[in-house]
Amino acid sequence: MTDTAQPPYPAAAFDKGPVGSPPVDPPTVPLPVAPADGPSGPLSGLETRDLTAWFGQRKVLERVSLQMRAGEITALIGPSGCGKSTYLRILNRMHEMVRGAALAGEVLLDGEDVYATGRRPAEVRRRIGMVFQRPNPFPAMSLYDNVISGLKLAGIKASRDERDHLVESSLRQAGLWNEVSNRLGTPGGALSGGQQQRLCIARSLAVSPDILLMDEPCSALDPTSTRRIEETIAELRHRLTIVIVTHNMQQAQRVSQSCAFFLASHDTPGRIVEAGPTERLFTDPADPRTADYVNGRFG
Ligand SMILES: Nc1ncnc2c1ncn2[C@@H]1O[C@H](COP(=O)(O)OP(=O)(O)OP(=O)(O)O)[C@@H](O)[C@H]1O
Ligand SMILES: [Mg+2]
Repeated sequence: MTDTAQPPYPAAAFDKGPVGSPPVDPPTVPLPVAPADGPSGPLSGLETRDLTAWFGQRKVLERVSLQMRAGEITALIGPSGCGKSTYLRILNRMHEMVRGAALAGEVLLDGEDVYATGRRPAEVRRRIGMVFQRPNPFPAMSLYDNVISGLKLAGIKASRDERDHLVESSLRQAGLWNEVSNRLGTPGGALSGGQQQRLCIARSLAVSPDILLMDEPCSALDPTSTRRIEETIAELRHRLTIVIVTHNMQQAQRVSQSCAFFLASHDTPGRIVEAGPTERLFTDPADPRTADYVNGRFG
């Protein structure tokens, strides 16, 4: 049965923006200084409660409740089309940029709803950064400018010295500094695919997010670059909370502490079948569908 129930938030609610939302211009905020050796405060956690999502009349996710714990890497796994990317985009308010998209339920960042009336999408997206499947640096822009390109968008003002510091610390955290420190003026497009992806990670880190969402960040990369990104992800875990979508079961096991298995069928929206510690999901799953999926019997 295809569920065609009317979404409680029609798309128009997104199109107009929340009632009473403030003007579009972001405020100027102090430069976030990325600490060299660890987070500046406690790490943030993310949680969804009964999240349901639609594209038009089509429901694609149903009552997804999940805790993504502070300082952990949570992997989202499941067959193509089960709603993993949609779920990720809902977490940082990118879903509402799709015309006709709607949702119900709650997304809580440290217990506070990111969809609360008056909360700015731009502020949410600064705190919850995103790295995509295909590296998407600005190809003609220098590496230096690529890293700091998010500052203006986030309304962050910084002196030249502060920018220099931020570029170095972001590239170091992304594991790219040693490879590019002597050519920061070269264009982003001149890097290899794996380096471009680490550049994109550095760009996300430069605005000091609390959460980093990664949608199949290695699927366009060779095994060596993949390994390098996985090392970077493992190091970042001590600085921020990470949610990663992957089709690679070995990768999910290597990098994540928690795992959620999503599943949809042609006539039912995506749901979480099972979530919990990664090791348990892979060695002792509670649901036979999880066992079949993690053992490569479908998907
Ligand atoms: N912009 C859109 N408009 C309409 N439907 C969409 C849109 N984006 C995704 N969908 C549909 O929503 C469902 C979930 O898609 P989504 O991209 O979230 O799946 P996924 O799990 O990320 O898949 P994959 O593993 O292939 O990336 C699919 O049925 C898809 O066709
Ligand atoms: Mg996807």
